[in-house]
Order: sequence, then structure tokens, then C-alpha cells
Amino acid sequence: MEVIHTVAELRRRLNGEPAIALVPTMGNLHDGHISLVDIAHDHGTCVVASIFVNRLQFAAGGDFDRYPRTLEEDCAKLEAAGCHVVFAPDEKEMYPVPQEMLVTPPKSADQLCGDFRPGHFQGVVTVVSKLFNIVQPHAAVFGKKDYQQVHVIRTLVKQLNFGIEIIAGETIRDPDGLAMSSRNGYLTREERAQAPQLYHALRRVRKAVEAGARDHRKLEEAEMTALSQAGWKVDYVALRNQSDLAPPGPRDTDLVVLGAAWMGSKTRLIDNIEFSFYVK
Ligand code: PAF
Repeated sequence: MEVIHTVAELRRRLNGEPAIALVPTMGNLHDGHISLVDIAHDHGTCVVASIFVNRLQFAAGGDFDRYPRTLEEDCAKLEAAGCHVVFAPDEKEMYPVPQEMLVTPPKSADQLCGDFRPGHFQGVVTVVSKLFNIVQPHAAVFGKKDYQQVHVIRTLVKQLNFGIEIIAGETIRDPDGLAMSSRNGYLTREERAQAPQLYHALRRVRKAVEAGARDHRKLEEAEMTALSQAGWKVDYVALRNQSDLAPPGPRDTDLVVLGAAWMGSKTRLIDNIEFSFYVK
């Protein structure tokens, strides 16, 4: 496995590769990321993982500075997963001049996480566009835990005609249900014990809809209240259509329930469950 830090060297290394599959990451890798590398092997002969903590997608005063930088451990995990190339640029390499040219995300990015993290998806689609242009992959793999991110990136690829197949990997969970996330490391021991409550709240919504409940607003509000009472600061619990992330109508059956909430003052967790059901 080669670890490359510059665009010029990466371009030299990838020149002539017939099928590149890219796994973009911000590092601090866990089994969820490694599952994306496993998927990437099915979509390319050369698997590239990028590691770059992208300042543009963090709010001022957010966790950019304390986001864990663990390049050595990450490379060991990627090597064990059979990754061929790691692209780990520094900020000067990715943003040699202030990034004035920004990509504007679609309207669907203004809701859910976009509503609570203004500018976040603009930062994401801008850096992902740069990574696509630098690596020129045939396929790119993203985790479904960041469900809205996957939706926004699919729209980016479609509307800006990137000839790249986007593959979404399933969320990998700890045995108690908590979705794996680099941010789980911020949780104290007590917070970690309570963290699966978010997943359980989403499961209750799914169960209620599958059992015939159609008052979506009431279901969302009930779980937001339950989480608040358990000590979370809730950004949202929301039912949406899988296809366009619009609120579902009574006959829509391919749904996703998404949630985002703060456990303590330092850790914002997100999760979601996709589900489909049959209406007679
Ligand atoms: O999901 C992430 O880790 C980041 O948002 C991404 C896609 C690597 C862009 O910085």
C-alpha cells in the first residue's frame, strides 16, 4: 500500500489504472469505514482511500480542531483491508489558495442536518468534487449512516455529470445497536451507555409505521420528547421518502427514519433506518 500526500504524485501513481474505487474519509477509521473498503474491492481493481479532515464542512467553533487525526493507525487498518493507495493531503495541498469556488448543494440539503449545520453540505460537496477530480475514480463508496450526505452526493454526481458510480454501504453497528462513528470516541462512559437510545427511538418509529400508524408528525414528536426527557438535545427525528428525502404521503412505502441529537454538550450523533413495507 502506498501513502501519498500530493496531488501530483497521486496522479502519477493512478495514471493508467483501469478501474479506481474511492473511499473518501476523514480518518479515525473504524469497522464501518473498513466495510466500505471491502465493498470498494468489488467495484475497482485499485482501491484508493482518502483521509482529509475538511475544514470547509465544519462550523466555526465546531469540532474541527479536536477531530481525531490518527494517520498511522488508519494506514495500518487500510493496509490490512487490502487498500492499494492512501491519499492523505494536508490543508495546503487541498486548499493552496482560499477556496472561493464552492459547489452549491441542492434544496434537499437545507433540511434535516443542513438546517442545523448551515454550510456543512456545501463544504462536503465542494471537497468531494475536488476529490473526484483529483482521483478520477470509476466508483466511490460512502456510508449510509450519513444518509443525507449520500443523497446530496448522488445529486451532485447526477447534476454535474460526474461519470462515477456511487455505492452506499450499510451502517455498521456495535452489538448494542449504536452506529459506528468517529465521534463515538467523544462520549464519556455514561454517555456511551445511553447512546443506543437514539437507534431505539428510530426503531420505535419504524415499528409504529409498519403497524399502520400514519400520523408521522405525532410519531416524530413522541420520540423527540422521549429523547429530550432522557437528557438528549434533539435536532430532529424525521420520516422521509428514501428517493428524495421529502416527507412521505400516506401511500409512500419506501421510507427512512432519520435522527440527530446531542448527547452531552460535545457529541452530536446521527443515525437512520431504511425500511419498506407493503400497503394493501
Ligand atoms: O463522510 C465523511 O467522512 C466526509 O463528509 C467526507 C465524505 C469524507 C467529505 O469530507
